[in-house]
Amino acid sequence: MPNVTVIGAQWGDEGKGKVVDWLASRAEIVVRFQGGHNAGHTLVVGNETYKLSLLPSGLVRGKLGIIGNGVVIDPEALLAEIDKVHTQGLTVTPRTLRIAENASLILPLHPAIDRAREAARGARQIGTTGRGIGPAYEDKVARRAIRVADLAEPETVAAKLDELLLHHNTLLAGLGAATFDKQDLLDRLMALAPRIVPYAEPVWERLDEARRAGRRILFEGAQAVMLDVDHGTYPYVTSSNTVAATAASGSGLAPAAVGFVLGIAKAYSTRVGAGPFPTELTDATGKLLGDRGAEFGTVTGRRRRCGWFDAVLVRQAVKVGGIQGLALTKLDVLDGLSELKICTGYRINGERVRRLPAAPGAQAAAEPEYETIEGWEGSTRGARTYADLPAQAVKYVRRIEELVEAPVTLLSTSPERDDTILVRDPFED
Ligand code: GDP
Ligand code: IMO
Ligand code: MG
Repeated sequence: MPNVTVIGAQWGDEGKGKVVDWLASRAEIVVRFQGGHNAGHTLVVGNETYKLSLLPSGLVRGKLGIIGNGVVIDPEALLAEIDKVHTQGLTVTPRTLRIAENASLILPLHPAIDRAREAARGARQIGTTGRGIGPAYEDKVARRAIRVADLAEPETVAAKLDELLLHHNTLLAGLGAATFDKQDLLDRLMALAPRIVPYAEPVWERLDEARRAGRRILFEGAQAVMLDVDHGTYPYVTSSNTVAATAASGSGLAPAAVGFVLGIAKAYSTRVGAGPFPTELTDATGKLLGDRGAEFGTVTGRRRRCGWFDAVLVRQAVKVGGIQGLALTKLDVLDGLSELKICTGYRINGERVRRLPAAPGAQAAAEPEYETIEGWEGSTRGARTYADLPAQAVKYVRRIEELVEAPVTLLSTSPERDDTILVRDPFED
């Protein structure tokens, strides 16, 4: 199977960037297929740390990067990111990056609406990244989005702005927020168009050719299954489908092109933003995990909520996400803890269940049931073979495999690119 799709198996920030960067050495093309610059993917390569939001992580390895049609693109954010990585010595050009001509754009009014709506929600905030992701996907589905290809047609952009502003200025005014001026928006878009248009093409054609030539494609998911708009903890989710199937529809390829699906999970759990989190720890252990794991949002800077590994949720993510193998990251963060817990089921209103139901009341009522596992002395940090791991750490990994019903095919033991244990090469599967 020549291709690999990487998706998050929890609530995001599992280390997808690190794993994609590592796997990219074995691929020729890396494709983002959903989400937008709500993603924050960290790559540590020697002394350099790259924090990528829209750019496919394979660019750092000099691989061709593709932004698929399923991504919502803020062109100003994209250009800023291209400029930022340039200062780190990475030059992005239309030779190294291609963008789907049919991808939808995030306009300045989208973050404005995102924030105004969050403010209006008060205590029921979702805790979005405020980057306009939800409103941009709404416009796409409502058939009024401005797309990448439109930037080459000023009259198309102008006509679409009329419809967009009719809708959004009404809403913004109702929320007491500042409205937008058509000419201003048009000028802004037309000013950046010459820098964006050279990247645009029908990427489905290039990908189809690559696939038929047997070139390896690596699909880089953003967010995670528990943030999927259908399968996650709705409404505390992002506005795209994050499951592996989206790699096909979000890039213009057949479902079979998705290849081996590698789910990324931390050896514990974290979540940014609001919403159900059954195994959350608000005590000293939660703080310890957050401190040791440096759990601060890559995009928001907000402290991530931390908790024990939830095998119920990851098992569910394995099933609905199509995950065939798991990359377990941040095992090193658990070094030295005398005792670890894994959630194996929930008690909801007196009943024991092994899945998270969809109803918000039931989700909020889910009380985790734990299995306790002895921790390990010694360090897993930087380990590059299974033989370097303490026996008890291996036991922890084995127990996770049993409970989530998927094999651990990759292990990550530090932020650094090469501190990775390969059990089974997903490209050879
Ligand atoms: P992503 O959104 O899934 O790409 O993950 P982020 O980059 O937002 O967050 C993961 C964080 O954990 C980053 O700071 C990584 O450098 C770091 N990280 C990744 N793998 C490991 C690991 O195995 N151990 C430790 N300690 N940190 C890791
Ligand atoms: P990566 O790819 C973690 C969360 C936000 C919020 C919810 C909705 O780095 O794993 P949005 O702005 O998407 O409408 O916010 O989703 N969220 C993420 N959490 N990692 C991410 O991306 C996220 N992208 C969005 O915190 O709770
Ligand atoms: Mg992240």
